[in-house]
Amino acid sequence: MLITFEGIDFCGKSTQVKRLEDRVRASDRTVRVLREPGGTPIGEVIRGLLLDRAHAAMTDAGELLLFSASRSQLVQDVVRPALNAGTVVILDRYYDSTTAYQGYGRGIPLDVIHAVNRFATGGLVPDLTFLLDIPEDEIERRMQQVRHTGDRMESSGRQFYGRVRAGYRALAGKESRFRMLDGMKPVDDLERMIWEEVRQWLT
Ligand code: TYD
Repeated sequence: MLITFEGIDFCGKSTQVKRLEDRVRASDRTVRVLREPGGTPIGEVIRGLLLDRAHAAMTDAGELLLFSASRSQLVQDVVRPALNAGTVVILDRYYDSTTAYQGYGRGIPLDVIHAVNRFATGGLVPDLTFLLDIPEDEIERRMQQVRHTGDRMESSGRQFYGRVRAGYRALAGKESRFRMLDGMKPVDDLERMIWEEVRQWLT
C-alpha cells in the first residue's frame, strides 16, 4: 500500500507521518517512511541543490526536472521494491507536490507537469493521499514560532503559497484517493482521523 502526505510548508505533515508510522508498526506490518526530495543517495544530493538558498537563480524548468529526477530514483530503487515485498510505504510528499508547487505555484503548464510526473514515476499512483490544508498566513506564524530561516523554496513568498494551496485543493477535488483534512485541527484529532482511514484500507 502506498500512502502519501501533501500540503504547503509547515502544514504539519511530518508529525502526522511519524504518528501514522508508529500506528502501522504497532499493527504488526512492515512500514517504510521516505521523504521527497531525497530518500536515496542521489536524491539527497539533488535535495541539497534544490533547497540551497545560493541557487536562487535556478530556472523553473530546472527545478521541475530536479524534483522529478530525485523522485524517479526513489520510485525505482526503493518504493517499488518495498511495495512488491508487501511493505506499507508512507511518502512525505510525492508528485502532487510537483503539480501544486511547480504547476500551480510557478506556473508551468499542467500538461507538461502531468507528462513529467508520469514519466518520473512510471505511472505509480498512491492508494491514499492525505492533504493537510492550512491557510497560507499560518506558514509565517509557524515559521516565527520555531525561529526558522527559510530554505530556497520557503523564500518564495506568500502569494506563491496561496497559489500552491489553491492548487492542492483543486487536485483534491479531482481524484477520489484524496482526503483533505483541516490542518488547524489538534494534532491528536488528525492522527485519529488518518489512522481510521488507513486501518480500513489495511483490513
Ligand atoms: P522540506 O524541507 O522537505 O519541506 P517539507 O517538510 O514541507 O516537506 O522541503 C521540500 C520543499 O520542496 C518544500 O518547500 C516543497 C518543495 N517541493 C516542490 O516544490 N516540488 C516537489 O515536487 C517536492 C517533492 C517538494
